[in-house]
Amino acid sequence: MVRVESLEKTYPGRRGAPPVKAVDRVSFQVPQGQLVGLLGPNGAGKTTIVKMMCGLIRPDAGQIFINGKDMVCRRTEALVDVSAVLEGNRNIYWRLTCRENLEFFAALKGRSPREIQPEIARYLDLFKLNDKADTEARKLSRGMQQKLATAVALIAQSRVVLLDEPTLGLDVQASLEIRELLKRIVQDEGRTVILTSHDMNVVQDTCERVIIINEGRIVADDSIDHLLDLFQVKVCRIVIGESLTPAQQQAIQALPQVLLEEENNGKIALTVPLEDAQVLHELFGILAANSTVICAIEQKQTSFERVFLEILGRSEHGA
Ligand SMILES: Nc1ncnc2c1ncn2[C@@H]1O[C@H](COP(=O)(O)OP(=O)(O)OP(=O)(O)O)[C@@H](O)[C@H]1O
Ligand SMILES: [Mg+2]
Repeated sequence: MVRVESLEKTYPGRRGAPPVKAVDRVSFQVPQGQLVGLLGPNGAGKTTIVKMMCGLIRPDAGQIFINGKDMVCRRTEALVDVSAVLEGNRNIYWRLTCRENLEFFAALKGRSPREIQPEIARYLDLFKLNDKADTEARKLSRGMQQKLATAVALIAQSRVVLLDEPTLGLDVQASLEIRELLKRIVQDEGRTVILTSHDMNVVQDTCERVIIINEGRIVADDSIDHLLDLFQVKVCRIVIGESLTPAQQQAIQALPQVLLEEENNGKIALTVPLEDAQVLHELFGILAANSTVICAIEQKQTSFERVFLEILGRSEHGA
């Protein structure tokens, strides 16, 4: 449904500053009915990619196909299948009401205002904008404007929806509702969604696949599950209820895989990788020698946030 090939974009440097290569040979494909997260640190090039995918800026090189149509050469035709919500607050008309914005943007995609009244009611209800239906967009709160912009993008029924930070500034409930809605339009309606987000909870909750960008280049493109597996470091944390003898401390310090930390409450925590059974056995032997009281044994798992940071860290070291 979306095919991006060797995309490049360099912004001219302002006032003598050197030019900025924002996007550097980026290629990926997204099949119909997939929800993909475009991730990366500030300035990585995500918004630039999104803007090129919806025909707002022209790439210096490379191609973009939306449902087989070339966004550079046949922009008007390609745009039929795309809706987008970009960063900032320029996605809706400030002097139109919520209802008028929804009617206007749906009409731009060829939908008749009469036909979409039930959908408008559903979106207003879903985003809790009912009592603002006839309020001008400029008088809404920032979160409400963001929700209206998302509703405007969705009501067009485009096959491809591009969302730049869709949950930014939303309250907890609204963020959860948008996530559910996005999952539903992908599963039930087979729409294709590409979103950017810095919120790893949102990413982990919604995206089956992530494309990670750093300094304009793709540094990872994989399913979240696979990346978690790849970077999974399962560790076990053993909390001890009493102080260790000097001999025990010495013996534990001789095991480089074991991290010994004193906690705020005076207890001692020993962190050890689970895959290293030998070390685990030795550690338990050291504790058993003095019948040391064990308060807790817990397993910790890597979060996607850690995996993301790890990938960025490695990409910066050229790995
Ligand atoms: N209009 C512009 N003119 C000049 N440089 C720009 C312009 N827009 C973006 N850039 C530069 O291009 C690079 C990529 O910016 P972009 O907005 O695509 O990043 P991003 O990944 O969306 O970041 P964020 O997470 O902060 O939204 C940055 O170095 C930025 O300064
Ligand atoms: Mg951005």
